[in-house]
Amino acid sequence: MKALVAYLSYSGNTEEVAEIIIEQLAQEGWSVDQYRIDFDPLLDITKYDLILIGTFTWYEGRTPDEIKEFVLDIGYKPENIAVFGTGDTQFGGEEQFCQAVDRLVKFYESRWEGLKIEQSPRGAQEKIVINWIKGVVEDVNTFIKAGKNIRTAISE
Ligand SMILES: Cc1cc2nc3c(=O)[nH]c(=O)nc-3n(C[C@H](O)[C@H](O)[C@H](O)COP(=O)(O)O)c2cc1C
Repeated sequence: MKALVAYLSYSGNTEEVAEIIIEQLAQEGWSVDQYRIDFDPLLDITKYDLILIGTFTWYEGRTPDEIKEFVLDIGYKPENIAVFGTGDTQFGGEEQFCQAVDRLVKFYESRWEGLKIEQSPRGAQEKIVINWIKGVVEDVNTFIKAGKNIRTAISE
């Protein structure tokens, strides 16, 4: 199974979450491509069984422009997108915490709950990241066991 982990990170927190996810997927036997949004050349996302998009949240709960551009570049709504992100409750409290994650989950009608991490995932929150990706993979595996193509099976 092939996964894409695409993320945007200025100060490294979202990248750390991406690294934990990549490590866990690799441990479970997945082949994983890492993609830095706004940095790496555009790629064909149709070849992936699972697409994970990672974002931080900016000014009053906003989605970074680079993420919006990436969404436009994708140009359609793949069914197999899961969303993760980091934020900080110091900016706008719970209400604006990781709102970019909520927005992307809603936009893509993601089957999976978005993962929200406060700042760096290293330490106590690492387990939360691992459990989240394990849950997503477990769900994907139910489709595979049923002999279905995850890229098209979700809405069937
Ligand atoms: C100017 C500024 C505004 C921010 N606004 C929010 C916000 O509204 N909601 C939120 O959850 N986090 C907010 N944050 C926190 C960042 O999303 C958080 O630090 C995140 O982990 C940064 O990700 P990165 O290290 O991958 O760049 C803000 C940070 C800065 C510097």
